[in-house]
Amino acid sequence: MNAIQALTERVSVAQLTGPDLTPAEEDSLFLAALRAADHAWMRPSRYLTVRGDDRAKLGRLFLESAPDWQTLPDDKQAKLLNMPMRAPLIVVAVCTINDHPKVSREEQLMSTAAGVQNMLNAAWAQGLGAIWRTGEVAYNRRIAEGLGLAANEEIVAFVYLGRINAAPKPVPELPVADFVQSWPLKSS
Ligand SMILES: Cc1cc2nc3c(=O)[nH]c(=O)nc-3n(C[C@H](O)[C@H](O)[C@H](O)COP(=O)(O)O)c2cc1C
Repeated sequence: MNAIQALTERVSVAQLTGPDLTPAEEDSLFLAALRAADHAWMRPSRYLTVRGDDRAKLGRLFLESAPDWQTLPDDKQAKLLNMPMRAPLIVVAVCTINDHPKVSREEQLMSTAAGVQNMLNAAWAQGLGAIWRTGEVAYNRRIAEGLGLAANEEIVAFVYLGRINAAPKPVPELPVADFVQSWPLKSS
């Protein structure tokens, strides 16, 4: 698969399974992420990997960090506990936000987001599946602290990764002309 094909045909894949990624496959994901655009080379992004039995610990953290978790119905508790079991590898993309005269918090978050997209593309390019997930678990400070994040760090994504376990959804057809205009616009 060439680069343009990978970029234009990638879709998110939620049905993921083993065998585990090889070290070479995994390294290429992080090398791609580390090539994200990065204003002033602040290097705001870092990544945590969660795999194997440690995924159950992450599920426990998801559950026990939810507000009033003990009163949640059993199905909601089970959902939180089992979330990390949906893929053999979870990468937590973390943005470390520092003051900079020219680079705002938003720009630092955008750089980490660009790294996540590079990771999705790198996964697809080598036949792996990946999906970017956030939801409440990404914005819960108890979860951030449980993962060891400092006060100036934010979760940008939980990237679920693995081998594709079901036919990927078709690539949506998006006519370029619907999204691209030549400026100045011609008045009708
Ligand atoms: C910031 C961000 C947060 C996302 N959070 C979730 C999520 O919580 N759950 C989910 O299923 N997908 C999530 N996604 C993935 C999108 O759902 C996915 O990209 C979308 O379904 C389009 O599919 P495609 O990537 O195949 O085009 C998120 C994507 C982004 C950019």
